[in-house]
Amino acid sequence: MANIAQQFMLELTAPRAWLLLLLPVFLLLARYSFRAKRARKMRQQQDDHLPPSPPALPGLGHLHLVGSLPHVSLRSLARKHGHDLMLLRLGAMPVVVVSSPRAAQAVLRTHDHVFASRPHSLVAEIVLYGPSDVGFAPHGEYWRQARKLVTTHLLTVKRVQLLRHAREEEIGEAAGAGAAVDVGDLLGSFTNDLACRAVMGKSSSRNEGRSKLFRQLVVDTSPLLGGFHVEEFFPFLARFGVLSRVVRAKSERLRRRWDELLDRLIDDHESKYKPTMAAASDQKDEDDDFIHILLYARQEYGGLTREHMKAILLDVFFGGIDTAAAVLENTVVELMKKPRVMKKLQAERRRCGGTRRGARPGQRLAIGRDPSYWGEDAEEFVPERFLDGGSAAGVGFKGNDFQFLPFGTGRRQCPGINFGMAVVEVMLATLVHRFDWEMPAGKEARDIDMSEEFGLVVHRKEKLLLVPKLRV
Ligand code: HEM
Repeated sequence: MANIAQQFMLELTAPRAWLLLLLPVFLLLARYSFRAKRARKMRQQQDDHLPPSPPALPGLGHLHLVGSLPHVSLRSLARKHGHDLMLLRLGAMPVVVVSSPRAAQAVLRTHDHVFASRPHSLVAEIVLYGPSDVGFAPHGEYWRQARKLVTTHLLTVKRVQLLRHAREEEIGEAAGAGAAVDVGDLLGSFTNDLACRAVMGKSSSRNEGRSKLFRQLVVDTSPLLGGFHVEEFFPFLARFGVLSRVVRAKSERLRRRWDELLDRLIDDHESKYKPTMAAASDQKDEDDDFIHILLYARQEYGGLTREHMKAILLDVFFGGIDTAAAVLENTVVELMKKPRVMKKLQAERRRCGGTRRGARPGQRLAIGRDPSYWGEDAEEFVPERFLDGGSAAGVGFKGNDFQFLPFGTGRRQCPGINFGMAVVEVMLATLVHRFDWEMPAGKEARDIDMSEEFGLVVHRKEKLLLVPKLRV
């Protein structure tokens, strides 16, 4: 027995025996390396189907390549790494950057249904009741119904035409004092007042304090709603919840302030509201405001709650104020820098007696400034390019020309195109028809600072101060 045991021990210490014992380990290693090789090959095959990417850092991905002006960083990255499409990883979040009309058409029109949703946002969830607005709601039945309500009842051509007559006299008063005015502030309060008037009606919006409260709330909410939040890029941080607690607390404070204002307004309207069998679209009263229309629409859209109404009203503030004001301010800057174009526009306005015939102030970003589609002067403000005989004569802004998408295109295209254009046109026409604009003493138009600040809407960083001279 002892001999057998000794024999066995000898066998074990012999190299052959070790080989025998290690065999399962070798087999496991071989299997692992075969699997790893297969996974690498599959990843390689997948990567072959993915858009090109710049070199990434572990963990961060490409976050370090995106600066404080993401639209500028993305544009220069796309030029270098993927003219049509480029894949970035912002932390854990994959982001596809689309930079040519051909790719924009594929993503926003042909495969629109795949890209029609919005990423989850904690701020939108709290401030926009779910989100139950149109802009942030995920693609689905609720979004479809809310969007239908907005386009068929609120932002109709008829209602836009009623707004065209609003406020021209008051702009005159604001700018006619002769001193330098902060043009951004003037335009912001004009578009805000117009939004207030559309939402709550002429009499409520005349309440100056209320209009200011709305403006302040939009200014306070926009950076949070449009900002990037670290946990969206690094979901594992959400487990600790520290950052989301801060964002949640800020958002809840803002929502309480919105609730207070909107509930009071809806209560006021409800006390005057007389339910009729007439549908919202049949309302004849020229002064009928969005709150009234939504109250009537409750008959047609059974499940429309007060929170849904408040969220939909908020879209007018977040969609309509900053966007139109930014387009206008950028247009005024360009006109100051190009007195030739300003004179032409003023002559046209004055010839038409101040009526509003479509000047097309266009904000052209990214694809919209690519020389391959816009020629050598792509960066220049040349509005004549859109006129008959110009290099972009046939190019429209309503989403059919993929090199120029100021309002987006496809399912999520801006439903406020007509409303936005009416606001921009009426204001621009008034500014150039009734006033000459000059730089403050000692300043030249070429000194105007062009730095930008990123947010839900990209803004000018510096104030634009100009002196209006009332034309006699
Ligand atoms: C000149 C002014 C405006 C510009 C440049 C503009 C631009 C845009 C853009 C680029 C989008 C995103 C489209 C997309 O995701 O593909 C959008 C969406 C939206 N805009 Fe506007 N907009 C303007 C005025 C307005 C106004 C006045 C309103 C409402 C009163 C409005 C309400 C909305 C809403 C609700 C959405 C979200 C649509 C959805 O997700 O289904 N916008 N806008």
